[in-house]
Amino acid sequence: MTTPSKFRNVPKTAQARILIKGGKVVNADHSFYSDVYIEDGTIRQVGKDLITPGGAKVIDAKGMLIIPGGIDTHTHMQMPFMGTVAVDDFYQGTKAALAGGTTMIIDHCLPSKGEPLMDAYEKWRGWADPKVCCDYSLHVGVTWWGDGVAEDITALCQEKGINSFKMFMAYKGIFMLKDDELYKSYSVIKENGALALMHAENGDVIEENTKKMKELGISGPEGHLQSRPEDVEKEAVNRSICIASQAQCPLYITKVMSKGSAEVISKARGEGKVVFGEPIAASLGTDGTHYFCKNWRHAAGHVMGPPLRPDPTTPGYLMDLLANGDLQVTGTDNCTFNADQKALGKDDFSQIPNGVNGVEDRMSVIWEKGVMTGKMDASRFVAVTSTNAAKIFNMYPRKGVIQVGADADVVIWDPVATRVISKDTHHQAVDFNIFEGMECHGVAVVTISQGRIVWEDGQLHVTQGAGRFIPRPLHAPEAYNKILIRDKVNQPIKIEREPYDGPIWTPDGPQAQKYVPKGAQSSPEEFNGQRGASSKSSGRDLHKSGFSLSGRQHDDTVPHRSTHKALAPPGGKSSIMF
Ligand code: URP
Ligand code: ZN
Repeated sequence: MTTPSKFRNVPKTAQARILIKGGKVVNADHSFYSDVYIEDGTIRQVGKDLITPGGAKVIDAKGMLIIPGGIDTHTHMQMPFMGTVAVDDFYQGTKAALAGGTTMIIDHCLPSKGEPLMDAYEKWRGWADPKVCCDYSLHVGVTWWGDGVAEDITALCQEKGINSFKMFMAYKGIFMLKDDELYKSYSVIKENGALALMHAENGDVIEENTKKMKELGISGPEGHLQSRPEDVEKEAVNRSICIASQAQCPLYITKVMSKGSAEVISKARGEGKVVFGEPIAASLGTDGTHYFCKNWRHAAGHVMGPPLRPDPTTPGYLMDLLANGDLQVTGTDNCTFNADQKALGKDDFSQIPNGVNGVEDRMSVIWEKGVMTGKMDASRFVAVTSTNAAKIFNMYPRKGVIQVGADADVVIWDPVATRVISKDTHHQAVDFNIFEGMECHGVAVVTISQGRIVWEDGQLHVTQGAGRFIPRPLHAPEAYNKILIRDKVNQPIKIEREPYDGPIWTPDGPQAQKYVPKGAQSSPEEFNGQRGASSKSSGRDLHKSGFSLSGRQHDDTVPHRSTHKALAPPGGKSSIMF
């Protein structure tokens, strides 16, 4: 793995030694009052009344929580998309992340059609490495299927530290895969011990609905919502889980936006399927009523796929499921476009670049809507903002926990301080914020990334390119422990039996009959299996057998009748009806 040279040369300043005193450490499994000592990018000691080593900077954390830095599982920094490029790049986007208490992002490398996955990976590394201010990793998209894709998936797993691959059931003609391609992708991903990620929305239905909206003269952002109703998301979630489980591949549904899809995930988990669900800051913090706003820019600012849902009880419901374990992780899908970029779709909602902000505000929004409402405690907050992500993406316990030996990605969190979110004060490049005006309790007062203070007293102290690419090993226990055992115990069954040695039907044999659609006008001769022969010469007396000239069959009342197939098409060389 390459380590950016800038990081290797980071001098050992006073910040290389930090003692956090008097705070409460909150991990996903328990919390306790403790000091935390950090040196050279690693947590070295966790305990009461630690001695202050020479040269260490001491931070008084009384009344504060000491939590693992947030991990945003879903971002698209500077992504080329829908004819433009996301405005928050790897520099601005990761700076903003740090200001909000997120110390790692997992971004998306999405190859264009036909582009080798490995080439896309190298391109994204080239964009990210010189700019990132915090650690990062990449999900690689399987955005097309063809020669070399399977080999590249394997090479990315074996050589580049990629253990998660993203597929799309939407964005027809751009990223969307068909079901058989999904099955093939899942199979290769599973063989390698990686995780499949899914954008679940039915792209074919969206295309048809979009045409319908336009025919109805609906060209504004409300058309985006109405062309992608909740069922279109829910159906795809269900289908993707079904296909993944046929390939025995663990699955992660990105951006759970609706009650219906959350319930599908929850039910599948109840059935024992290995599937994870990721609601995002947007779906937990706001709703789709904004698409009906008279102000076009405001409505367009919320356009993303799948859309936010207009049922205003959706965010609270998703938070309930996140709190009780039906959903596990949170990301943001941060993919930001300014007003002039959104305006590419001013007369046609289907041309509005999809995407919203979140990377800076996720932690505060979840604290406000999850902890301050009493739905989850601080430990569950840590679980859903960092620990579960670290486990699912196989970075635990390097990330996602305050313990000796872990990376010193640490946040000092004030649980009662408040801040009001606004585009005017946020650190993102984008000129809009979907959480505008929201007052949140829960504020990152100090952010430590790789053992260095990068955010303190409302000021950023970042170095471009200081973030590292974090390679992730295969076979994450969180996803694969059960799967590997199931592979052994659930082998397909083969029955050894005597070979069948009776007669075998042939198209020209005595039993063959000609297919006639129900209700078609036909002479009795046409029902004779022997081409050109009369009914009398048929091996079967059709009048006596109950065979109907109208096409009715003796078993028409049998419920599974409709599943019978004509082995050869009507009018073909020989036809038969079963
Ligand atoms: O609307 C979104 N989310 N845009 C980014 C691309 C994607 O769908 O992930
Ligand atoms: Zn996304």
